[in-house]
Amino acid sequence: MAPEALPRLSALGRTPSARELLDRALHELDARHRLASRIAAEPNLAAIMTEFVTRLMDAFGALSAVRGQAVLDIACGSSSSRSPVTGLTTAEFEPWMCRLLLELGARPVGIDIGDLDSEAFVHHRVDLGVPGSLDFLATGSFDAVHESRLFGSPEFRAAHGPATEAIRREIHRQERRLLRPGGILIHSDGRAGPATHEQSG
Ligand SMILES: C[S@@+](CC[C@H](N)C(=O)[O-])C[C@H]1O[C@@H](n2cnc3c(N)ncnc32)[C@H](O)[C@@H]1O
Repeated sequence: MAPEALPRLSALGRTPSARELLDRALHELDARHRLASRIAAEPNLAAIMTEFVTRLMDAFGALSAVRGQAVLDIACGSSSSRSPVTGLTTAEFEPWMCRLLLELGARPVGIDIGDLDSEAFVHHRVDLGVPGSLDFLATGSFDAVHESRLFGSPEFRAAHGPATEAIRREIHRQERRLLRPGGILIHSDGRAGPATHEQSG
């Protein structure tokens, strides 16, 4: 899926202007993070990018509506994140959602326990398994919160074992606290299948 990867992703846009916007963002991601060659090396990254673009379109209605939005990405991925299959670091779990949001003109804030030092978006290194670890973020300060594939990750399981109900409840409580009234929750909860999104408030 090497050279045709970016046009295929751009084609996900549902209108000509959305395709143009997406095309520009993907080419920036390629220039900054070598997206096309990373997909060539790890083809499943194309499926992850497809999932992220689709989640944004479903949640915001139009890709252009993402501009200016404050979006918190919980367990956003990092350059040290590992595959649950191989146990090795993988391009699949670099912080592509935050990188994409940044290129679309949003104001992403990434949270992860892994290495985000070289990223251009605002980020915090936080252990999400510790109750209260997101208390430093102001209540109602985000237009949207994205959370995807935290609990099944090797890093989470190594630090905390299988997620307990108490940890899940605490993270979900924080997500709702951090969303402004009417904000959008974009959730995959680590299970297979499409993310859900819902309005809070
Ligand atoms: C499978 S990756 C998911 C990345 C991205 N959200 C996605 O859907 O592709 C899981 C991420 O959760 C992070 N993570 C695992 N345990 C964590 C913890 N206790 N606190 C913060 N981040 C954690 C890992 O570092 C990794 O980046």
